[in-house]
Amino acid sequence: MGWWKNLLLMRLLSSQVDFPNEKFYFNIYTYKFRMSMKKFFAPFVLTVAAVLSLSNQVLAADVENGERIFTANCAACHAGGNNVIMPEKTLKKDALEANGMNAVSAITYQVTNGKNAMPAFGGRLSDSDIEDVANYVLSQSEKNWD
Ligand code: HEC
Repeated sequence: MGWWKNLLLMRLLSSQVDFPNEKFYFNIYTYKFRMSMKKFFAPFVLTVAAVLSLSNQVLAADVENGERIFTANCAACHAGGNNVIMPEKTLKKDALEANGMNAVSAITYQVTNGKNAMPAFGGRLSDSDIEDVANYVLSQSEKNWD
């Protein structure tokens, strides 16, 4: 960045040559610097905004993918958020809370590793599919599986 070198040079020169108004040069340089920073950061700010709005769309798509994964892999035992094998261990909000399963991390862990009669899906489903289905289960539990 050359602006401060120029500034230094200005200072040096002004100690030899008597400039009419040293402050004027200083202001010009800070102004130029600010403008160049603005130009430099504007595309950056725009990119961040674009990425953020894109990631929101990706999040919405994830839950849709989670629904597909659920229908194909979980609905046999958990249709409607129920549990055909252990009727008290439903995927409803109350049960998830009571069993400490009301978090994406807890669901992800159980789906990956299985538990008792529930099979492990690690290796059969990708990590991102498991995360999607966990998000789907949580969001459905919030909506009472309507
Ligand atoms: C073969 C039947 C079966 C399938 C398929 C199955 N589960 Fe389960 N699931 C169970 C059983 C049985 C339990 C209770 C396990 C226990 O705690 O002993 C359970 C428990 C759970 C729980 C915890 C519920 C609670 O209240 O503690 C979650 C969350 C869950 N399953 C999600 C899933 C997801 C997501 C899938 C699909 C990727 C899936 N399950 C597939 C049988 C199944």
